[in-house]
Amino acid sequence: MVFKGPNFLRWHFVLAIVITIFFTSKFSFAKQSKLMGLKMNMIDRCWRPNPEWRKHRQQLATCSVGYAGKMTNNIGKGLTHYKVTDPNDDPIKPQPGTLRYGASVIQGKVWITFKKDMNIKLIKPLLISSFTTIDGRGVNVHIADNACLMISKATDIIIHSIRIHHCKAQTPGMVMGPNGKVIHLGQVDGDAIRLVTASKIWIDHNTLYDCEDGLLDVTRGSTNVTVSNNWFREQDKVMLLGHDDGYLRDINMKVTVVYNHFGPNCNQRMPRIRHGYAHVANNLYLGWMQYAIGGSMGPSLKSESNLFIAPKVGSKEVTWRKIDHTNEDKWEFHSVKDAFENGAAFAVTKGSRVPKPNYSKEQIFQVVDVKSIRSLTRSSGAFQCSKTSIC
Ligand SMILES: *[C@@H]1O[C@H](CO)[C@@H](O)[C@H](O)[C@H]1NC(C)=O
Ligand SMILES: *[C@@H]1O[C@H](CO)[C@@H](O)[C@H](O)[C@H]1NC(C)=O
Repeated sequence: MVFKGPNFLRWHFVLAIVITIFFTSKFSFAKQSKLMGLKMNMIDRCWRPNPEWRKHRQQLATCSVGYAGKMTNNIGKGLTHYKVTDPNDDPIKPQPGTLRYGASVIQGKVWITFKKDMNIKLIKPLLISSFTTIDGRGVNVHIADNACLMISKATDIIIHSIRIHHCKAQTPGMVMGPNGKVIHLGQVDGDAIRLVTASKIWIDHNTLYDCEDGLLDVTRGSTNVTVSNNWFREQDKVMLLGHDDGYLRDINMKVTVVYNHFGPNCNQRMPRIRHGYAHVANNLYLGWMQYAIGGSMGPSLKSESNLFIAPKVGSKEVTWRKIDHTNEDKWEFHSVKDAFENGAAFAVTKGSRVPKPNYSKEQIFQVVDVKSIRSLTRSSGAFQCSKTSIC
């Protein structure tokens, strides 16, 4: 008879632990090195390699580049941490735990996260207050099937890792305003994100598709905006920069569009610009139907190291210009180090100098070689990271 005493049991126990440690560490190491092998762009490299990013979510605010600059006004002293636990919506009396309570009612710096995956159907547009961060990393958050996001007369806002789609036009009505007071809001088109007189806005790693009007509108004197790492797809009118031809204040508009993935099935406006200036760099264009980049009212745009893949059939020309007789000579569409596939072509403005973005030290970023665009935009859009995995 073999006596299986405490020592034997202990030995099995130790072995089990050793095996567990060995396999889990090997597993996570493999995962991590896979992540490291991925060529990350400058924004992602600033926080994604940190396996403890969940404990340091505010680090994200230091990662932005382009005209939004660093979002450091959104963090630090006086920051409220708010968790969305309830997907319901009441546009006039938002309940604590809902997204609207955190985004419109709470004033000052607020960092909004989500307790779990959720589908939020907004009854009215969500009016986001200044100094608000909406951080969907680590969960699957959809804002879909009715009203969507609006930033009106507000500054210092981050929208990160949210899936926004099937946005619909809204009739006028009462809604909680960005200052925590109920206001009357007029008719709103069905855009995923609409900026009205907004500044210092960073829109990063969102997935936007299939809305009634457009995916992103930057209008009425909005400026200092960075649109990065997003995935725009399945849409007729993708991105509008500049309100309308008559809105001259948009002459000061400055927008950076970087590391985004456009397509498949986008028709036009990636972006369409009026009056202001856009630096469009390191984006991937997976086809278009009418055009990719267009404009009117003498805007200027520097297209730099983008990859334009023309559709197999249809228009090969990247740009479109509205003929207008007052500003005819002022067109400034420049292409620098872009790459063209499937016969794509870019009609550039001749005979003038390419306007530089003139970024400050905290806005500046290195535009990378167009050869790495496919890998640099591979993880664009909202992340597919679960509670346990690295983003
Ligand atoms: C935009 O940012 C610049 C600094 O880069 C600043 O001087 C300007 O006032 C900002 N514009 C608005 C409307 O906030
Ligand atoms: C950057 O500065 C140059 C020189 O002053 C100017 O010509 C150009 O228009 C500026 N760029 C922008 C985007 O304002």
